[in-house]
Amino acid sequence: MPSHIESQKLLKKNKNYIPGGVVSVNRGIEPEIAFARGKGSRIWDVDGNEYIDYHAAFGPHFLGHNDPYVTEAVIRELRDGASLFGSGTTKLEGQLAELICKHVPAVESLQMLNTGSEATYQALRLGRAATGKNHIIKMQGGYNGWHNDVACNLMTPLSELGSRRSPGEYSFQAISAGIPPEHQRLVHSINFNDLESVRYVCEKYPVGALITEPVLQNVGIIKPNPGYLNGLRALADEFGFVLIFDEVKTGFRHAIGGYASIANVRPDLVVFGKAVANGYPMAILGGRRDLMERFVDPSASKRVLLAGTYNAHPLPTVAAIATIERLLMNGGEVYRHVEALGEIMEAGVQAIIETMSLNAVIVRQGSAFCVYFMDHAPQDWHDLASSHDFELDTAFRRALVDRGIYAFPQATKQYSLSAAHTQADVQTTLRQIEESLNFVMGAGQETVSMRARPKS
Ligand SMILES: Cc1ncc(COP(=O)(O)O)c(C=O)c1O
Repeated sequence: MPSHIESQKLLKKNKNYIPGGVVSVNRGIEPEIAFARGKGSRIWDVDGNEYIDYHAAFGPHFLGHNDPYVTEAVIRELRDGASLFGSGTTKLEGQLAELICKHVPAVESLQMLNTGSEATYQALRLGRAATGKNHIIKMQGGYNGWHNDVACNLMTPLSELGSRRSPGEYSFQAISAGIPPEHQRLVHSINFNDLESVRYVCEKYPVGALITEPVLQNVGIIKPNPGYLNGLRALADEFGFVLIFDEVKTGFRHAIGGYASIANVRPDLVVFGKAVANGYPMAILGGRRDLMERFVDPSASKRVLLAGTYNAHPLPTVAAIATIERLLMNGGEVYRHVEALGEIMEAGVQAIIETMSLNAVIVRQGSAFCVYFMDHAPQDWHDLASSHDFELDTAFRRALVDRGIYAFPQATKQYSLSAAHTQADVQTTLRQIEESLNFVMGAGQETVSMRARPKS
């Protein structure tokens, strides 16, 4: 059992200056560990414990921590006098924009921001401006950032949400205080994979935009049913709303072109973040040129304001360029590598589930996967929330962390492989997964609910 004494000391000290001692509320999680260093597939905490990392800081580190190629590019840029000028264009932003427009089919032109939340905020603002319609649709179980439109309906308890309705929508369940009720009435949450509910909402309200992750990846991995994303495209065309794919988690991780390129569906706007710059703060909002031109429309009443002191800061920009170069090397070797590791992981976990006769399933998309303690891959939030054993999931993750595998210790969070993970890492992880499952399923684990005990 690793000691976390230094982590606890640091947290206690930081509580004097930071509410809760941790910035970004979702990072405050037990066990309370303060990390200090990362390299490749490994991270180390301030007590010196080493972990194989599957959290990847909520997703960005697709190439692994401190990928040498990206790090070298950033250092070179700093040595060459990189600075922020805040006036006029730069070679670097043009270079990154050209690369992305060339490799992402849905992107004809783009803007650069610092975080996924900023980019989804602007995408929705642009959707409303372009259509003149203020209502929007988002997914129950989808996370699209912290701002008023989307800070709602993530992991809402079913007791508050009510039972499944289709067609239908769910009441606004804020995940933040301070969202005015007038604003809440413009946001309609529906279940993923439910086209009928999109139609239902569009027939009742003037919908300007629908935002969705193409694979729901903030509650594990919920894949689109065949035809679902195409169905959204058809409904966007029929009702005239702007279709926004939030690829903050899926973009670059599954393909440079985003999941949209895998599904062969073209959204009107697309948002990338996280893996775009392998851990540096960069987000991209791109899409149809006619929509993007709104940001420079000569008419003040049509123009959408997008500004930001740090947008296209040279360090994240050069990191994003280097990340793309890495992803393109040797005909996409990185993608072949993570797919091969993902296959081994999936088969290994599946074999453990079968050997132990567990009521569990592994769902994987490329380098991202999740183990659910239920008998099928979830289709939407209602399905997941009513079937998955959250308590067991949390206990399992804590057991993994105790064994040197850093899976974020909160139920349903995605596990992420990276280009830096090796077959040896995966084999070590599989051994620890088996041990952890044996531990949490073992006698005396009173916290583990009966639902996920072995099938008899
Ligand atoms: C799908 C998705 N969209 C948007 C965001 C918000 O991105 P950021 O945290 O960079 O603001 C996240 C963050 O987890 C996300 O997963």
